[in-house]
Amino acid sequence: MIEPAAEREVPCAGLRIGDVAPDFSARSTTGDVRLSDYRGRWLILFSHPADFTPVCTTEFVALAGSADEFERRDCALLALSVDSLFSHFAWLRLIRDRYDIEVRFPIVEDPTLVIGRAYGMVAPHDNDSATVRTTFFIDPAGVIRAMTCYPANVGRSTPEMLRTLDALQAVDDGPVLAPANWVPGEALLVQPDASLDSVFSAKGHTDWFMKEVKRGSRK
Ligand code: BEZ
Repeated sequence: MIEPAAEREVPCAGLRIGDVAPDFSARSTTGDVRLSDYRGRWLILFSHPADFTPVCTTEFVALAGSADEFERRDCALLALSVDSLFSHFAWLRLIRDRYDIEVRFPIVEDPTLVIGRAYGMVAPHDNDSATVRTTFFIDPAGVIRAMTCYPANVGRSTPEMLRTLDALQAVDDGPVLAPANWVPGEALLVQPDASLDSVFSAKGHTDWFMKEVKRGSRK
């Protein structure tokens, strides 16, 4: 469980792919949430700089519009910013009234930045409390499998978030790799066999390290 910054030995642990996502519990727009309660399904935990800001609003409208797509992949969304719970409520009401879409996934309040700092969503000694656009893809075992970080002035791509999730889920099904721009239905790559025999016995020049495998699309 995340402790208040002053009580932690490392004030802003740099999380990496393969780390277990630090547990926390917090208030959110859908009630109290605990990160470890998401074990058993995929989770995208993401921060945004502030409520009532233009780029963030477009991101939430886009994500709410794709909520079914995340659900189909058994992936929960969990948003976070430094703003208060009542700010989140007011913003979601405005989004509903203006864009005719209800944001139903939880938005965590992190007024003390204890979660934002533990996840590296804010610079450790930054006076600006706004979190940057950090996104953590967390697998059903609670392990961070991918992360992205965008600045405040560039919004994320929902299709790319879905594609990353598809690729992470596809490579979990076997020793395969997802090539550049891969989308479900396209061929994956075979994990190369690191043996000299496979190098010399391969028919084509590149067959020993570059081989496609076609899988039935799960989507
Ligand atoms: C935005 O979401 O539009 C935004 C947030 C913080 C700083 C600048 C822009």
